[in-house]
Amino acid sequence: MHPARRTLGEAETRRANRTDWDAYADEYQAEHGQFLGDVAFVWCPEGVTEAEAKVLGDVRGRRVLEVGCGAAQCARWLVERGAGAVGLDLSVRQLQHSRRIDDGTGVSVPVVAGTATALPFADASFDVVFSAFGALQFVSDVALAVRETARVLRPGGTFAFSVTHPVRWSMPDDPTAEGLRVTSSYWDRRAYVETDDAGRVTYAEHHRTMGDWVALLADTGFRLTRLLEPEWPAGHDRVWAGWGPERGRLLPGTAIFSSTLDSGPTA
Ligand SMILES: C[S@@+](CC[C@H](N)C(=O)[O-])C[C@H]1O[C@@H](n2cnc3c(N)ncnc32)[C@H](O)[C@@H]1O
Repeated sequence: MHPARRTLGEAETRRANRTDWDAYADEYQAEHGQFLGDVAFVWCPEGVTEAEAKVLGDVRGRRVLEVGCGAAQCARWLVERGAGAVGLDLSVRQLQHSRRIDDGTGVSVPVVAGTATALPFADASFDVVFSAFGALQFVSDVALAVRETARVLRPGGTFAFSVTHPVRWSMPDDPTAEGLRVTSSYWDRRAYVETDDAGRVTYAEHHRTMGDWVALLADTGFRLTRLLEPEWPAGHDRVWAGWGPERGRLLPGTAIFSSTLDSGPTA
């Protein structure tokens, strides 16, 4: 892999990330599945759970969509609490893990393969849309993804998502003291892109500043209701890529946005 910062469009981002997540899904679930739990809702590597954070509120009887659901652990936890939850993910292999966990736990989540930028659901068909480190930072056309969310949500519905905290983008992806350095501009919106030896893009993540996220929500008819920047919990020693106790005690690694759809989509 050859990592670099560069601009990258939606089609190439999606092609690369679908291939990457299909190839990585088995390793991802083997490495993180126990931490995530089979019927459990963990928002981020800091281990903040929905039971503690109560971002989505009471979901009993609510129609809920998890975007970028992976193996749908979060949606499964919501099903146990009475929600009518469904999951969507770009990676068929991730969804096969969801079926495996359905079979093992007896708690099933209907899932569909698709992309956050073209949701295969009717207008106003959900009360809640959420994503736990799912699609939002893996799409290039995030404005389209947020418009799609607004389209499938009913007015007054909830949209919440967790992403890498924007300040982390200007630092190396290193959880140790070595990672406590600013090595690029916070305002550099170019994507993080990996390519193979032939120059073909194999993986991409896209950066937005805190202000970009707030503007994106406001411009699409959402009212920001909460912004969580979870503190690193005492006694939590688990390292997940760039997240770990050493940096986590000093700087936030995750941002969780929660919002309400005040009006219909504006564009
Ligand atoms: C870090 S995983 C998070 C999954 C799950 N929430 C979890 O905590 O394990 C990111 C997920 O987003 C999915 N994803 C990436 N791009 C997507 C897109 N454009 N639309 C839908 N899902 C996407 C990936 O396939 C992957 O399963």
